[in-house]
Amino acid sequence: MNIKIKGSMLPSGERGKVTADPLNSPTLPSRYYTDESIYRQEMTHIHRKAWTYIGHVGDVPETGYYFTDTVGEQPIVVVRGGDDVVRCFYNVCPHRGHQLLEGAGKLKAKGISCPYHAWMFHLDGRLGVARLTEHVKDFDKSQFGLKEIRIAFAAGLIFATLDPDANDFADEMEGFVENIEHFLPAAKDFIVAERLHYDIKANWKTVVDNFSEAYHIPICHPQLSKVLEQEMEELKAERRWTFNRFKSKEGFPGFELTPGSPYYAWQAWPHFCALSLPGSNNLIVLRMAPDGVGRCAERVDIYTPKGEEDNPKLGAVRDLFMHMFNIEDIAIVESVQRGLASMGYDQGRYICDKEDSWFTEYQLHWLHMQVLEALGDAA
Ligand code: FES
Ligand SMILES: [Fe+2]
Repeated sequence: MNIKIKGSMLPSGERGKVTADPLNSPTLPSRYYTDESIYRQEMTHIHRKAWTYIGHVGDVPETGYYFTDTVGEQPIVVVRGGDDVVRCFYNVCPHRGHQLLEGAGKLKAKGISCPYHAWMFHLDGRLGVARLTEHVKDFDKSQFGLKEIRIAFAAGLIFATLDPDANDFADEMEGFVENIEHFLPAAKDFIVAERLHYDIKANWKTVVDNFSEAYHIPICHPQLSKVLEQEMEELKAERRWTFNRFKSKEGFPGFELTPGSPYYAWQAWPHFCALSLPGSNNLIVLRMAPDGVGRCAERVDIYTPKGEEDNPKLGAVRDLFMHMFNIEDIAIVESVQRGLASMGYDQGRYICDKEDSWFTEYQLHWLHMQVLEALGDAA
């Protein structure tokens, strides 16, 4: 997996030092999930540096469409310009700092107008109209455009980084786009069928950890186990992303499947988790944005080809996933978060098999090594 880690980056807890060998390592000490100062370090070294999933080009289909989001606790806005280029900016007015836009939709005017004193910005970020500034000494309009944020596209999905010096997305995530496009060739033309928000009482890693392992699936998701075969067809664990391919069983009433239908799971550093479940053409992306040390703003985006939003098979996937699978997972992670704060718990063990499969806790260790690498000696 090629993670650059030194001994001094590996923390110790009550069961000893975390190591780069999952079969010979205690898990990440619980303070990594509860300590405010480690959370602040993560904000600096992870969430404000990494390439982070924010949405899909289908959210900004034409000039003037925009959506807002938060990356590393920073409000951002994505907008499609008159030149058809999709750009991302800090969602803040350079005059006195008012937030420019809220929510998502299509702008009524040709530009972005600040609600405070009505400075108007072109969709490429340049300042257009700024009332009375002709009297202001040395006022240079070109110095008051919106501050741009780097974005990259992956099979229609949009990723952003707040770090101007970050490696290019294509280098960091080598092979990721090709992998999604190979298995979901229509993904770049998908639209959002549904977008759901969950305020979870757990650290962002507690929620991503749970996605990273299927060791719990037969126990905690008995209905899902009836649909999905537990035998892995393919596993890829690259530096910043992983891919797992599986086969389905026959399903259960309302969710009939051809046995052997493929389904896929992707994970990308730091908190992009995605599934394409059998039965319909879908991509379900979960994004576990940190919202304080003990809270996570999970967003679930269900993508499908245009015209298939009302396909009953997509409805079956959504019901299985949202009303069962994800609800079960939220109860689990909130319980684990309470446990991580317990004086009776600090570290466990990573349970792995010889294939390092998703049905064990191999990817949990993969994720934790990235956390430690990113924090360096800071935590
Ligand atoms: S803060 Fe935006 S115009 Fe004044
Ligand atoms: Fe689960």
